[in-house]
Amino acid sequence: MQINKKEIKQNLKKWNEEKKSIKSFSFTGDIVLDNVSYTYSKKTPFEFRALDNADLSISDKKITCVIGTTGSGKSTMIQLTNGLLISETGQTIVGDYKIPAGLKKIKEVKDLRREVGLVFQFPEYQLFQDTIEKDIAFGPIHLGADKEEVYKKIPELLDLVSLPREYAKRSPFELSGGQKRRTAIAGIIAMNGKTLVLDEPTGGLDPKGEEDFMNLFLRLNKNQGKRIIMVTHNMDQVLKVADEVIVMHEGKVISKGSPFEIFSNQELLSKIQIEPPKLYKLMYKLKDQGIDLLNKNIRTIDEFAKTFKEVRKGK
Ligand SMILES: Nc1ncnc2c1ncn2[C@@H]1O[C@H](COP(=O)(O)OP(=O)(O)OP(=O)(O)O)[C@@H](O)[C@H]1O
Ligand SMILES: [Mg+2]
Repeated sequence: MQINKKEIKQNLKKWNEEKKSIKSFSFTGDIVLDNVSYTYSKKTPFEFRALDNADLSISDKKITCVIGTTGSGKSTMIQLTNGLLISETGQTIVGDYKIPAGLKKIKEVKDLRREVGLVFQFPEYQLFQDTIEKDIAFGPIHLGADKEEVYKKIPELLDLVSLPREYAKRSPFELSGGQKRRTAIAGIIAMNGKTLVLDEPTGGLDPKGEEDFMNLFLRLNKNQGKRIIMVTHNMDQVLKVADEVIVMHEGKVISKGSPFEIFSNQELLSKIQIEPPKLYKLMYKLKDQGIDLLNKNIRTIDEFAKTFKEVRKGK
């Protein structure tokens, strides 16, 4: 067979042009879950409808916390956002990228997974490389990043999650639970996507570890404009960091609002059996005594003290 070089060249050119014209998606903009449902263990005695025609939108560049009792569908819902699960009804929309219900294979899934980095609960169990730097680099390289570029950034990433730089070559198995968690989170940050999805990122950590992580997420949001979506059972943390709170109950989104709106709503909190943040408990007691600070958008103890003084003076 004769090889026609000219023809090959022409074909290559055509192919390259076609490649360029393939639409690249923008994952910025709202994440919308439109009428999504999900059932586990279908057609078995364990069948369970974890999401039941839920609707939701999550704004870009904000910190959104997802709350709700155990089993309400939080983890299921967040796994839709990067295509780990695909809904049975409705659709998932990330920016201008759409995943319709029942889709078998997602197009450009690596791009989606890089843009929407998901950290499972107890991510430390997913570390499996022999050095910390390899663990951090694994995700981004697997999703198509340049190896050299990723390794160059390792010291910076270690700084970001407050691990000493000399840890890069150590084994992750020598680390404490909190340090392993930092390594796993550094791996997600290394992918450099615009959205971080965290499922109970501080579960099982001591208060100092929790505080460090919350401050890290706040910094990533305020300094780098990352969208943070976080499932948590710690309402004090929610009050501290959330721009928006999503409330889940029995597979549905039953409320969405600012932390002030959600935590002022005693009826809602008792329905979902969630204890309010400590500051709100105090404010409920004060309200019973005729001092109502619930509409003052208070996040911290300092803000509380200042507002309390002002209100008392004005009385
Ligand atoms: N693989 C599975 N097979 C069967 N049922 C499952 C499976 N995974 C989850 N479920 C059920 O689906 C429901 C929702 O689970 P999901 O993990 O989304 O809840 P959650 O709100 O994240 O709860 P938690 O606060 O305990 O983490 C739960 O009742 C759970 O038992
Ligand atoms: Mg969960």
